[in-house]
Amino acid sequence: MEYFENALRLEDYRKLRESVGWLNFNEEQTARALCRSLYTILVVSEGQAVGMGRLIGDGVYDTIVDVVVAPDYQKAGIGTQIMNRLLAYIEENTPAGGRTSVQLIAEKGKEGFYKTLGFQEIPNAHCGSGMRKIFRK
Ligand SMILES: CC(C)(COP(=O)(O)OP(=O)(O)OC[C@H]1O[C@@H](n2cnc3c(N)ncnc32)[C@H](O)[C@@H]1OP(=O)(O)O)[C@@H](O)C(=O)NCCC(=O)NCCS
Repeated sequence: MEYFENALRLEDYRKLRESVGWLNFNEEQTARALCRSLYTILVVSEGQAVGMGRLIGDGVYDTIVDVVVAPDYQKAGIGTQIMNRLLAYIEENTPAGGRTSVQLIAEKGKEGFYKTLGFQEIPNAHCGSGMRKIFRK
């Protein structure tokens, strides 16, 4: 298993999303989004993309998106490795005296996976609910 930084290409991105039954978005919009990533991880086994994770944000507020491990490779620790690498990037890039808030939206039922990595569910004592609005054209 090999882990590559900032090597995630559109083709692998779309294939990995498909492998877990996620829809793919408009190709041009997706290509632009990938270019704007802060940091990505691509996992390759025997020449095939088997996992990925992506970080977007401005270094004060960062968001983890597109964490996917292809079904045949799940439950072997790859998802945790991807997350640890994304979190290590954030840790390294948070300056002394600084603070970075890292957000993500867990798929239903995947909250436990993120809790073991130190994420807290919201709402909680300090925050209201996470909210989102989607635009479609
Ligand atoms: C969520 C996802 C990324 C996790 O990836 P993964 O590689 O299976 O993750 P890990 O193997 O690191 O951990 C998953 C579970 O397997 C367990 N596990 C890890 N290594 C294991 C091993 N060698 N043997 C058995 N179980 C193991 C972990 O304890 C963890 O348990 P949990 O489900 O109770 O949290 C993956 O299931 C996935 O891509 N799902 C579809 C897309 C998705 O939902 N993405 C998340 C978006 S929010």
